[in-house]
Amino acid sequence: MDIEQERELECRTALKTLHIDALNAGTFDGNKWLKPKHSKSLTSINPATAKALGKVICCDDDGYRAVLQNAQAAAEEWRRVPAPVRGELVRKIGNRLRAHKETLGRLVSMEMGKILPEGLGEVQEMIDMADFAVGQSRMLYGKTLHSERPQHRMYEQWHPLGVVAVITAFNFPVAVWAWNAFNALITGNSVVWRPSAKTPLCAIAVQKLCVEVMREEKLPALITLFVEPGTEYVERLVADRNVALVSFTGSTAVGRQVGKVVAERMGKSLLELSGNNALIVDATANLDLAVPAIVFGSVGTAGQRCTTTRRLFLHDDVYEETMARLSKAYGQVKIGNPLQQRVLMGPLVDESARQGYFAAVAEAQAQEGQLLFGGQAYEGDGFYVTPTIIAAENHWPVVQRETFGPLLYVMRFSHLEQAIELQNEVAQGLSSALFTNNLQHAEQYLSAMGSDCGIANINIGTSGAEIGGAFGGEKDTGGGREAGSDAWQNYMRCQTNTINWGSDLPLAQGIDFNVALEK
Ligand code: UN1
Repeated sequence: MDIEQERELECRTALKTLHIDALNAGTFDGNKWLKPKHSKSLTSINPATAKALGKVICCDDDGYRAVLQNAQAAAEEWRRVPAPVRGELVRKIGNRLRAHKETLGRLVSMEMGKILPEGLGEVQEMIDMADFAVGQSRMLYGKTLHSERPQHRMYEQWHPLGVVAVITAFNFPVAVWAWNAFNALITGNSVVWRPSAKTPLCAIAVQKLCVEVMREEKLPALITLFVEPGTEYVERLVADRNVALVSFTGSTAVGRQVGKVVAERMGKSLLELSGNNALIVDATANLDLAVPAIVFGSVGTAGQRCTTTRRLFLHDDVYEETMARLSKAYGQVKIGNPLQQRVLMGPLVDESARQGYFAAVAEAQAQEGQLLFGGQAYEGDGFYVTPTIIAAENHWPVVQRETFGPLLYVMRFSHLEQAIELQNEVAQGLSSALFTNNLQHAEQYLSAMGSDCGIANINIGTSGAEIGGAFGGEKDTGGGREAGSDAWQNYMRCQTNTINWGSDLPLAQGIDFNVALEK
């Protein structure tokens, strides 16, 4: 058996283990998998080969209605369950994921195109999130407050919201769902998942593992799923008054629409939108750290993370040396099938992503951007391109915009203030990093006058955040926070309770409202 055949066999085994067939139902309505006869279907494509991985029968009207109805009923039940017991369910899902890490990681790699270590890393991120959420289920703290009135007690409690919709993107087809779903579950909500049409099989595989666990818990509608080729049902979902919270991951353009529609009906939204992340290298930086961080940040996941390093600011003193080392490193990046060992960069997700990459390279060149590395297609059946570095200027529209692809725009600076200013001069505000050995620079960067992003790192790249810290960004990135810190509060409503245990009824603010009541 040659390597190709071996890989093919491993893939087929992974699909079989995860119960992914040639034709799959794409809707789990809380009781069963639906395969409506006249419904549309879509084909999931392996971006490394441009061949079909499997077909999915999509959601129809009846399916959507059943999903919503059952999710509402499940939320009604689930809120009665004590939070630490809810945590037990997430623990079991986490354990199921642990048992299937290898196969699920392989499926992520096959369907999305990220290299296998990153596919496995994505499943690990789900497992970490499950562990985190299990602990959190015992820590849904509310404050106890001191009332200004005698013999009164005030406190805050957090209650479940109801139905939480989780709309996910192709680039993290399973982890970002887990960030939301596990926090939503321990906080007492049911979860409706609408994954990207580019990665439906990953979602179906995860949903199947969850169905096993939920059936054991006798609450099969806690997590439901629907797949669709277009936007008909996701639009209904966003506008649906029965959905208390819409968590959306995707572009700023779409997120803006989602935010508007949800706000109009006074719902809650949680937005994790486009990034345009900068990494600054100052004159004192340790290049042994900076260079691999830049390569991982810009080439990892073929530049399709919202945390991808997109803009690189190099101090004049380290420009030549950093660029020399970067070119060398880029030259060593092995491109190819993401399941193959030692490959560091797989394909882009589809042909339209490839066209978007070419358009951005052409646009940067038309602006007199100097192509320092790459910029071409890469031979292969899949949607391959080469990792690319372009000397650019920050104000160019192409630099201001997020293009999913291995595109790095490099710029020079002479004073840190100047670099920070340029870093912040974009609409997005997700992630940022400074490489320095200068304490004052580090503190300045992390101060209120420094990075304006939701994530700001010192001597660590822009991507690859761990579970536990709140993840999200400011400005056009949408302001949402997920997967750590107080993010669980997004999935709950806060209630203030005041209890009078005395025999008088004093009013707040000392108001005297003395009605003489007849006894
Ligand atoms: C995303 O690209 O939407 O920090 C999420 C990171 C990953 C998550 C990225 N942990 O790069």
